Amino acid sequence: MRGSKESVVIIGGGIIGLGIGWQLAKSGCEVTIYERDRAGRAASWAAAGMLAPIAEVHFEERELLELGSASLRLYPEWVRELESDTQMSVGFRQEGTLIVGVDRDDAGLLQHFFDSQRLLGLNAEWLTGAEARDIEPLLSPQITAAISCEDDHQVDNRLMVSALMTAFRIAGGTLSEGTPVSKIEVQNGKARGVRIKDRLHEADVIVLAAGCWSADIEGLPDPIAPPVRPVKGQMMALQMEAGITTQKVIRTPRAKYNTNAYLVPKANGRLIVGATSEEMGFDTRLTAGGLFELLRSAWEAVPGIYDLPVLETWAGLRPGSRDNAPILGKTSVENLIMATGHYRNGILLTPVTAREISSLILTGVSTQAIAPFPLSRFQIG
Ligand code: FAD
Ligand code: GLY
Repeated sequence: MRGSKESVVIIGGGIIGLGIGWQLAKSGCEVTIYERDRAGRAASWAAAGMLAPIAEVHFEERELLELGSASLRLYPEWVRELESDTQMSVGFRQEGTLIVGVDRDDAGLLQHFFDSQRLLGLNAEWLTGAEARDIEPLLSPQITAAISCEDDHQVDNRLMVSALMTAFRIAGGTLSEGTPVSKIEVQNGKARGVRIKDRLHEADVIVLAAGCWSADIEGLPDPIAPPVRPVKGQMMALQMEAGITTQKVIRTPRAKYNTNAYLVPKANGRLIVGATSEEMGFDTRLTAGGLFELLRSAWEAVPGIYDLPVLETWAGLRPGSRDNAPILGKTSVENLIMATGHYRNGILLTPVTAREISSLILTGVSTQAIAPFPLSRFQIG
């Protein structure tokens, strides 16, 4: 990690690998992304595209809140650059988010959450049910209270993945799909390259960005395998129709069912309804119960969805670390960089990850922004 003409191999062509690859290729590095399947079709395709550092904040996760807020601040410029490089839209919308309470339990939870947001100095506004319905008329008459998070936005993650693939290639990067990396070659404490079938691809820097599969690649000494696990999320898309449309992202808290539902309207008329959160290993089967819980929670908030056609159902795997925060930066294996474990916020965290990891590779210096997120925080002794 010395100069601007490094050769870099990125393992994983999700939104994180593509974002880093794009920035590095633009800076003159020789970058190859190896993707074992189709690029961008794993968690990055499954996501809802919410950019919600405030609506998803947990009081004890202040460093993650700062990282998410920093990434959200980068979004307008990131989108401008990406859309200008590719002439492709990524569906960035800045209409804000409403968290709505459908009963007294929810309202209690909302109040508690709102108090935390205020203590953290976040931009959140308390609304009555009537005020919330003035903003989103399709909200249920049952809704008694809501929090408006004006600064939490959304992007169309599928469009962003497609734009990043194009932008990466335009910048001179090589995207090799259908090409699994079987091993990271480490010699004398240094990463030398990656093994693709019988071939060794040597590179100055290896970036591990394989999402929830990041711990499964051979070659890493035990303490270096990142503690990342899959957390399943079931989702569906409905087709909005005339008179049954929403503008803002609408979320419900987790009071009654073990599902904190959200409804995310896209410019193409799709209404994304998500998501379960299940510890089921690598199982991506859809279940009747999972979809039922989602629909029930979403329908309680916006009853009008009852009549909408179902366009698609799917499940994806969030790459969750032990503390829900990403693993970013250098490791004790020289020339091996981690960019994984983005859990529920990988779409939000793409610009800051891409900027900070590419800067680390180009300059050799780690910035303050990613300092709280090294792999070493999980290593004992
Ligand atoms: P992935 O997109 O999973 O990409 C990893 C890639 O690595 C895959 O394509 C995989 O095939 C490849 N790979 C694995 N092993 C190898 C190997 N050996 N060789 C080569 N390639 C390999 N985040 C938000 O910010 N907002 C949201 O609204 C949101 N909603 C979500 C909803 C759901 C249901 C889910 C599942 C996630 C959601 N997320 C959201 C989280 C976000 O999707 C993830 O954090 C993000 O996509 C992670 O990106 P990634 O590139 O690390 O992983
Ligand atoms: N951030 C939304 C989810 O992970 O479901």
